[in-house]
Order: sequence, then C-alpha cells, then structure tokens
Amino acid sequence: MMAHKGEHSGQCSFLTAAIVICGMLATFHSETKAAAIPAPGLEFRHHNNEEIPQILASVHARCPNITRIYTLSERSVRGLPLYVIEFSTTPGYHQLYHPEFKYIANMHGNEVLGRELLLHLANYLCEHFLAGDHDIQKLIKLTRIHLMPSMNPDGWQLSTDTDRNDYLVGRANNNSVDLNRNFPDLDRIMFSNEEAHVNHNNHLLEQVDRLKEPIQPETKAVMRLIMQVPFVLSANLHGGDLVANYPYDASRSGAMTEYTESPDDQTFRHLAMTYATHHKNMANPKRSGCGDDGYNFGKQGGITNGAAWYSVQGGMQDFNYLSSNDFEITLELGCDKYPLASALQEEWENNKKALIQYMWQAHIGVKGHVRDAVTGQPLPNTIIHVKNVTAGRNDDILHDVTSVHDGDYWRLLTPGQYIVTAYRDGYQPLSHRVRVYDRPHMEAQRVDFHLQPLLQLMQSANSDSKSDSEYEETYDETMRNNIVNKLQKKWLFNKYKESISTN
Ligand SMILES: *[C@@H]1O[C@H](CO)[C@@H](O)[C@H](O)[C@H]1NC(C)=O
Ligand SMILES: *[C@@H]1O[C@H](CO)[C@@H](O)[C@H](O)[C@H]1NC(C)=O
Ligand SMILES: *[C@@H]1O[C@H](CO)[C@@H](O)[C@H](O)[C@H]1NC(C)=O
Ligand SMILES: [Zn+2]
Repeated sequence: MMAHKGEHSGQCSFLTAAIVICGMLATFHSETKAAAIPAPGLEFRHHNNEEIPQILASVHARCPNITRIYTLSERSVRGLPLYVIEFSTTPGYHQLYHPEFKYIANMHGNEVLGRELLLHLANYLCEHFLAGDHDIQKLIKLTRIHLMPSMNPDGWQLSTDTDRNDYLVGRANNNSVDLNRNFPDLDRIMFSNEEAHVNHNNHLLEQVDRLKEPIQPETKAVMRLIMQVPFVLSANLHGGDLVANYPYDASRSGAMTEYTESPDDQTFRHLAMTYATHHKNMANPKRSGCGDDGYNFGKQGGITNGAAWYSVQGGMQDFNYLSSNDFEITLELGCDKYPLASALQEEWENNKKALIQYMWQAHIGVKGHVRDAVTGQPLPNTIIHVKNVTAGRNDDILHDVTSVHDGDYWRLLTPGQYIVTAYRDGYQPLSHRVRVYDRPHMEAQRVDFHLQPLLQLMQSANSDSKSDSEYEETYDETMRNNIVNKLQKKWLFNKYKESISTN
C-alpha cells in the first residue's frame, strides 16, 4: 500500500500561487510525548487542560499501532499546546483511497460537552478496536480519523474558573476574539463570484484580499491543518442548542436570517440528518426547545441551514467547504453549554451512535484516482466536476473537488445517477456515468480516470479528418477554465500571506 507523510497534501499545490503559503505551512505535526497515566477507564467528569494530553497518551499506550498524538503548529494565546489524536492503521501517513476525517470541539471555550465526548470517543475507538469490534476495526482500517478535543483551552479555563453557566464568559480566546468568526470570510468571495457569474466555488483561499481582523493563533493552527491534510468530512462541536447545522452559515443577501443553499445542499442535509437521527433526542419533535422563544429544532428533524438560523461570517464550517475539499457541519450538542459532570455519561450515550455513524459518511459517494493514460503517473490537482442526472435531471453541482497528492479523490454524494468529469490542463476531459447506491458502512464506489494528454490527441487528430464536435466543446470549456484560473491567480493574496506568517 502506498503511503505518504501527512505533510504533503495535494491541496497545498493546487495553484502555484498557493505554494508560497503552503511552503510556510509545512511544519506542524510535531510528535508529542506526554506521560501516560494508567487508564482505569475514562471517568465521566470534566477534564482539565493538563489531563487532555495524559488521557490521549494513555489511549496511545493501549493502542500504539493505530494512534498518534500530535500538536498543531501554534499554541493558544496563553501558550497551551493544541492536541490532536489520530486513528489510522498507518498513523502519520495518508493512505491512497483512504478519506481523512476530523472532529474539532471546544472552539468556544465555554461549550464543553464536545471536549469530553471526543476524549470518550478516543477511548472507545481504541477499546473497541482491541476488543475485536468489526465495525470499528473496519472504520479505522478504511479511514484516517483526527480528533481535537479542544481548540480553545484558554477559554475553557476562564469559563471553568468563573461562572460556568455564563452564556459568554470563556467563549472567545484570550484576545477576546470569537474563533468562529475569525476565519477568512470566503462566503463573501463566493457570493461576489456568483454575482460576477464566475463559476468558481472551491479552493478560494488565494482570492482573499483583506481580513477584518488579525488571524488568531488557534485559527491559524487549524487553517494550516485544513490546508495540509486532505480532509473529506468533518464536524465542529458546539453547545447552546440541540441541532445539526449545515452550510451556508452566511446569508447570500446579508439578511440576518435567510435559507442560503450551497451547491451540495442535498448532501449536507443528508449529513446533518445522519447525526440528528442517530442522536437520542436531536430529531425528536416532542422535546423542549433551548432558546428564550422555546423553539424546538426537533420539529424540523433536528437540522437547520446555518444562515436560516442566523447569519455568521468568518465561521469555520464554511471555511472548510470553500477553501478545501472538506465538507463540514456544525453540531450544537445541547441546551447547556457547560453541563454538570453528572450529565456526561448520559450525554455520551445520547451521542455515541451519532458520532460513529457520522464518521462513516466519509465513505458515501464516489472515490478513485486520476492518472495519465500514457505514463500511468498520478495526476494531483485535477478538477472533479459532477452533474446530477437522476430521474431526467441535468443539473451541474457547482462545487468541484480536486484530486490530492497520489491522484486520489473523494466526492461525497447522495444516492442517484451522476456524470463525473475530470478536467485538467493539457488533458482531454473524461466523463464517467455512475449510479451511487446507499451502501451503509461500505467503502465508496471506485470511479477511476485515465486521462489522455492533449498533445497526443492533437497528433492523432491531424491524421484523422473526422472532427469530434463534442470534444471541441469540452476543449473550449477547458480553455475557459484556464482563463478563470489565471484571473484568480492575479487576486491580491499578499495581505493574507503577511497576516498568516506574522500574526
Ligand atoms: C502492534 O503490532 C505488533 C506488530 O504487528 C503486534 O505484535 C502487536 O501485538 C500490536 N499491538 C497491539 C496493541 O495491537
Ligand atoms: C486571559 O487569561 C487570564 C488567565 O487565565 C485571565 O485572567 C484573563 O481574564 C483572560 N483574558 C481574556 C480576555 O480572556
Ligand atoms: C440528485 O438528484 C436526486 C433526485 O432529485 C436527489 O435525490 C439527490 O440528492 C441529488 N444529489 C445531489 C448530490 O444533490
Ligand atoms: Zn459555539
């Protein structure tokens, strides 16, 4: 099996302009050794910032072959390391055709349930792998899973030391910045592309020309993670309500509340619904609501479009979708942001199935590789475009993904019929018609592309007077894509570059 160090994700070389940034980003993933405490099973109580690495180390001690602990490139404002534990049969490496998944919790320091849930999830994955649980073993063999219990340990400390029930204290980081408003606002760029009829809705980072506030260390650390690891699916764990929230988070018109559909609305609804329906109460219409108005999201299946609830700019969820191949949703795990320790065991039971079922969704749709048909070389950074042709439809899904370093790609899709096309400079575009089935807990269906270099095609076309009109048409489209790409490269990204390297 081919394996590559996680540091070399294909996303980093997507455009030459981005290479500068990615070069600077290439130094996180320091291996971490913390003293392991003997693990008498993980207790249901709130664990402090010193205990996080100890618990992860004890999981690693029990499951050394399938785990790795690492810290991100930046520390929190108050100097605390940001820990991640990875589960994989090749820890530290991306494996061909294996999707990468992440959960990040406690981004708002006073929303603490996700933090405890991820510690318990790490413990559970290890124990169940060792105990021979076939479903968990299969999941870990097919998926590289990254769990980050706390993105905001400073906020957690403040919240824990003061009033744990305050709606705001500890939410922000130690510079009083709300990290879920601190990501570059790619929604704005995407909406202005839409207005200019520029058909470009992915990998928008190089179009960033201004930032509304300095990027915080915790944000920068996660941005680097997102740029380096070719994530396919993720979720961002919060509290304060009970609902699975999906893109877009920012409203198209600027209205405070307005349903704002992304091109993958159907897929995102499926993803959010997967969590909601496998959670004990999230989708229950009879439960009570959380807010002052008592509104109960269970009445709408436990899911909501982000902007339909309230519009947010600079959030992590949309940043993932618009800067990388990743699809992310935001999970609000309960009315209480800081539940009592005595509620934690029940909350774990409420969420356990949903947490696992959601990770399996990294395997919906199609995946495969893109290679040069002549040399067999992998072709990273190839654009994978999808058209929905289910039941007589003929609709382009205007959000492309790209192949990563070994030419491997993943395209999450709901069941249906699709035409999947691979576009790359210098090659003839190639389409495959596929039918995607609902196949729970199975690997995604393989759809591979072997692209013909255009030079060879031109030569054989010269000796063949018959011209293929369909081919001409797709070739023009490739040219147009090239022009758009060149325009994009001209956008000012220097400010962004400065900010990420000096803040
Ligand atoms: C880890 O792998 C080694 C070598 O394959 C094996 O001997 C050992 O039993 C494994 N340990 C665990 C905890 O699975
Ligand atoms: C920063 O952290 C210190 C130490 O925990 C705390 O006293 C202070 O209130 C914090 N400031 C903010 C703005 O969170
Ligand atoms: C494609 O269309 C079918 C039929 O309308 C729908 O069920 C499916 O969710 C669509 N797929 C995507 C990815 O939008
Ligand atoms: Zn939150």
